Amino acid sequence: MTSSYGLDGKAAVVTGGTRGIGREVARQLADAGALVCVTARDAADVRRTAAELGGVGVAGSVADPAHLSEVTDLALRAFGRIDVVVNNAATNQPYGPLMDADPDAWRTAFTVNIEAPLRLVQYAWRAWMREHGGSVINVCTEGATHVGPNVGAYGTSKAALLHLTRQLAGELSPRVRVNSVSPGLVRTEMARFLWEPGEAEVAAGLPLGRIGEPADVARAVVWLASDAAEWITGADLLVDGGTRVRAAHPGGYAVHDRLRSYPPPQP
Ligand SMILES: NC(=O)c1ccc[n+]([C@@H]2O[C@H](COP(=O)([O-])OP(=O)(O)OC[C@H]3O[C@@H](n4cnc5c(N)ncnc54)[C@H](OP(=O)(O)O)[C@@H]3O)[C@@H](O)[C@H]2O)c1
Repeated sequence: MTSSYGLDGKAAVVTGGTRGIGREVARQLADAGALVCVTARDAADVRRTAAELGGVGVAGSVADPAHLSEVTDLALRAFGRIDVVVNNAATNQPYGPLMDADPDAWRTAFTVNIEAPLRLVQYAWRAWMREHGGSVINVCTEGATHVGPNVGAYGTSKAALLHLTRQLAGELSPRVRVNSVSPGLVRTEMARFLWEPGEAEVAAGLPLGRIGEPADVARAVVWLASDAAEWITGADLLVDGGTRVRAAHPGGYAVHDRLRSYPPPQP
């Protein structure tokens, strides 16, 4: 990162900031001069990541409203402001046909993937953003606008997150910008079951010839958070190596075959 993009001295909260995309978002924000507050369930990971990035953190699940309130209080206490919220933590469970979906697991998916982002924005809005402004980025998915095998709960909740992004963008303007980033397949733990078995085959089906790295997505998140995107709100930035345009690309698409055959490990 060569430019601070106006992020120097700004304060950012990143949920799921200890691994994968969220960890890299937090790192790039810190590189740009932002003060970062990371959250995740594993307390040791939170402590280590916060220390590495010179920020703060608190462990808990985004499914717990008290945790989100605690995160907001911590960021405000530590930094005196909350300029950026990155709603990144998510679950891809329950996995499988919707006729087999356990309604409790379905509810959990919606609590984590859609209710938590709304609650955190509400807290940040009341604590800081309503008066001082800010920027919210919701991490969605390339798959949010179409259907796919066994990912009904995940896709439906992420489609709702896309809609929430646009609704909030309208409601919170002009003070707060709200955008989303929609990654394609990225090399993280959550998606390991998709990219690890035969990565070369998956990559060959993507127009840009490789799966994504967390840094690819993080750059888009940081850019949207920054002043460089000051006239952008309600947008969804697709960071997918060309996944959406693959129909015009020679070569097969192995991801849907994998979604059919390799269920992700249960947490
Ligand atoms: N990887 C992909 O191919 C891909 C594609 C499209 C969209 N995405 C989206 O990108 C985002 C990040 O995914 P990722 O692939 O980077 O996942 P990841 O590597 O598995 O990391 C997930 C992060 O979120 C935390 N987390 C998970 N559940 C949580 C909860 N209930 N409360 C608080 N923290 C929680 C994890 O830490 P703990 O386990 O310690 O809580 C970890 O820090 C998600 O929104 C995902 O839907 C990913």
